Amino acid sequence: MRKPLILGNWKMHTTPAEAHVLARELVHLLHGVMNREVAVAPPFTSLAAARAAIAGSDLRLAAQDLHWEDRGPFTGAISHSMLEALGCVHALVGHSERRIYFGETDHLVNRKIHAALRGGLHPVLCVGEEEDEREAGRYQEVLVRQVDRALEEVASGFATRLTVAYEPVWAIGTGRAATVHDAVDANRIIRHQLELLWGEKPAAAVRILYGGSVSAANAAGFASHPEVDGVLVGGASLVAAEFAAIVRAGW
Ligand code: PGA
Repeated sequence: MRKPLILGNWKMHTTPAEAHVLARELVHLLHGVMNREVAVAPPFTSLAAARAAIAGSDLRLAAQDLHWEDRGPFTGAISHSMLEALGCVHALVGHSERRIYFGETDHLVNRKIHAALRGGLHPVLCVGEEEDEREAGRYQEVLVRQVDRALEEVASGFATRLTVAYEPVWAIGTGRAATVHDAVDANRIIRHQLELLWGEKPAAAVRILYGGSVSAANAAGFASHPEVDGVLVGGASLVAAEFAAIVRAGW
């Protein structure tokens, strides 16, 4: 059975002091929550503060990104081992904001997946189509390409460490979440592609999340469907009570 994952992506929000407060609130509100994994992804500069705040709880830490090399002359970059040393369990890879604003290509996404797996991180691969691609009926082709390229030369033995998040670009930060039907449809396309790459058994081990304008109001719908293994939450994860309500929505 896949354990649901509810992951809060704080993006470029929170100073260390703010991260500490938010993480403490979450620890308090989520006390006693069972049978699901809950993680938060603060900015790099707030990882240490968040780590101190969640110490001794079941909450886990994730990174929003990582560099594709292990070390070297890459000014401003952060490696997988630095993130592991700060207690990160997961690392987002290929978030659409990285692809759009930082020019990340499928090739770089692939290299980052390899870097995460070379280290001890569990990559959360983000994929999803743009609005015009959905309107043109091309979302399936986009998802297949993004999954295929991201996982080039990745062995099926890593399946248990991989999570994929279906995040349609048009749903991110817009308040316009995909319907549960569309999320399930996309998740099936992604799982089918994983089956083609790795075979049925490894593919069945991969968690596939939905992300894009998830809120306390719509989370229960996603939670009710066994093919949605959790959610990746942006804006709503910055309000402790709202994120806690999402975690408690089901799964
Ligand atoms: P959102 O962001 O929940 O604010 O739409 C989701 C994401 O970017 O992962």
